[in-house]
Amino acid sequence: MQHHPTYPRSIHSRMVVTGAAGFIGSHLADALLAAGNTVIGVDRRSPQADVDAMGNLAGALRHPSFTFVAADLRTCPLEALFVHADVVFHLAAQPGVRASWGEQFADYSSCNVFATERVLTACENVRVPRLVFASSSSVYGTTDGTPITEDALPAPESPYAVSKLAAEHLCLSHAGKPDSRLSAVALRLFTVYGPRQRPDMLIGRALAASLGGPQLDLYGDGTQRRDFTYVGDVVHALIAAATTPITSTVLNVGAGASVSVLDVLAAIEASTGQPVPVTKQPAQAGDVQATLADRSKAADLLGWTPSTALAEGISRQHASFAVPAQPIGA
Ligand code: NAD
Ligand code: UGA
Repeated sequence: MQHHPTYPRSIHSRMVVTGAAGFIGSHLADALLAAGNTVIGVDRRSPQADVDAMGNLAGALRHPSFTFVAADLRTCPLEALFVHADVVFHLAAQPGVRASWGEQFADYSSCNVFATERVLTACENVRVPRLVFASSSSVYGTTDGTPITEDALPAPESPYAVSKLAAEHLCLSHAGKPDSRLSAVALRLFTVYGPRQRPDMLIGRALAASLGGPQLDLYGDGTQRRDFTYVGDVVHALIAAATTPITSTVLNVGAGASVSVLDVLAAIEASTGQPVPVTKQPAQAGDVQATLADRSKAADLLGWTPSTALAEGISRQHASFAVPAQPIGA
């Protein structure tokens, strides 16, 4: 692969974050602003019309170096947004494994694949040097539960996972073009949690159930395992991927511990001091039995290691229920 000498050496740069109104994107925007960057956040959810987006962006919108652009990446002109950007962080996507079957796939394919192609073409047109893409551990499919390395053959088991793998390949194809000035780093994120977590995900739902909200629908028998990764650690990896002089590649970003859903529920009960009431539901199509990242490549290339243990991360997410949209403090 070509060496791209034009990566941003300074963190005090012009950064674009797609999906900035979302869970991970809003934390990334906060961290980039705190480090002194100019940030343009793009999202189809406008804080004026969407209460969750407003909560996520409450801090960023008060910052003088933040500009929010409400736009749909499938249709909006992108070059004007990306011109002079040092880095485009492409996090916008239709996320979630279980909802990606059937009619909803239209949104998954258009937002995750077609929009990514548009983002990459625009990056090339205005000569953005680095794109950091939020890929997914789901591209691996079923594993044997041991740490998985990036060279394992992907075997996605849901339409969502297929769309993320396709987008990852688009990133590498664009960056690999002979005339391309773009380098692309795709981070395969493993089940991210923490304050502002999406409402369809386990830990937020289980915390809400334990604190008197609706019972948790427990899919399957709860023995399925995930490498739950704290959002503050993920933000550090995203920023390292933007600022480290590496060529285009794919990297695992996972905490490095595989924990069962039942053990997560026990940790939540320890945090709240109350049980998590559950309603048993069948196992869901597309959910894999186990995920676990081998972190050595991210450690070698980015110097990235996670620092937040699951109990600590759960306790921060629990604390955020009383004070919505609080900073991640990682
Ligand atoms: P999120 O839904 O909170 O954020 C995604 C944002 O993208 C949303 O605000 C949404 O409005 C925006 N978006 C979607 N389609 C768009 C479009 N066409 N134009 C403009 N904006 C659009 O999700 P998240 O959990 O923060 O995930 C962020 C990224 O990380 C996604 O790419 C997801 O696939 C990836 N990822 C997430 C996890 C996780 O555990 N949360 C794990 C692996 C990968
Ligand atoms: C998460 C994100 O939602 C995906 O967008 C992302 O791509 C993926 O991580 C990833 O690692 O790449 P998932 O692992 O399904 O997907 O995360 P959760 O929604 O938190 O679910 C974790 C486990 O809890 C799953 O086994 C799920 O079946 C279970 N669960 C979830 C429940 O039993 N009940 C629920 O209400 C939600």
